[in-house]
Amino acid sequence: MTCHHEPYIEPWCAPYGANRGYGMVEEKRLQLDKAMTSKCGSNHLSLMRTLAKLTSILFAFVFLGMQFVPTTTTPKPSATTGVHMAEVINPQVGAILDRSCQDCHSSRTTWPWYSHVAPVSWIVSKHVSAGREILDFSDWANEHHSADERMLICDAVSDGRMPLPEYTLIHRNAKLSKRDVELICNWAAAGH
Ligand code: HEC
Repeated sequence: MTCHHEPYIEPWCAPYGANRGYGMVEEKRLQLDKAMTSKCGSNHLSLMRTLAKLTSILFAFVFLGMQFVPTTTTPKPSATTGVHMAEVINPQVGAILDRSCQDCHSSRTTWPWYSHVAPVSWIVSKHVSAGREILDFSDWANEHHSADERMLICDAVSDGRMPLPEYTLIHRNAKLSKRDVELICNWAAAGH
């Protein structure tokens, strides 16, 4: 019998018997390693890939689904209520209010494209509805306004509550300068 010096297959290779145990263990380990990296490794990787794919598909569906959740903004803009504050009160102060407040406090809201994309649209429509409900400049000319009401506006801009910080983060030009606040408060105190 020929001996190929492979003791684990050919036990008759007696002279190599000493190596036999080691050879077998070593060979098995190598085989196992190979199997692990080729089979197990690629299985693990493809599982991860499949999971990543499924997750992105799920996210895409959730995102698409969110777009079908209706948002309502009350009251709906109407043609009769689109007055510029600059035409109603002191034009300098009116221009500031038009620039920084009208998106949320009048019917003259500009809706950028992202304001139609959920979940941003949910936040924006909530802000606009709440803003219009509490103070709607579109009706300013038709209503009587007390000094207290005007001072409320001065207060809101003085302590930086208005315009909403999340709004000025995107609408940089809506930020009020110290001078803007001063002008608003002077108007609020004087009433003209
Ligand atoms: C991004 C939308 C948004 C903008 C822009 C905005 N507001 Fe408001 N405003 C709101 C919302 C929402 C409320 C009601 C909830 C609250 O008080 O946070 C409100 C409430 C108010 C109130 C009454 C209650 C309070 O908090 O004092 C005043 C007065 C006011 N805003 C004035 C202004 C003025 C003046 C400007 C512009 C300089 C302005 N807002 C710009 C959304 C806005």
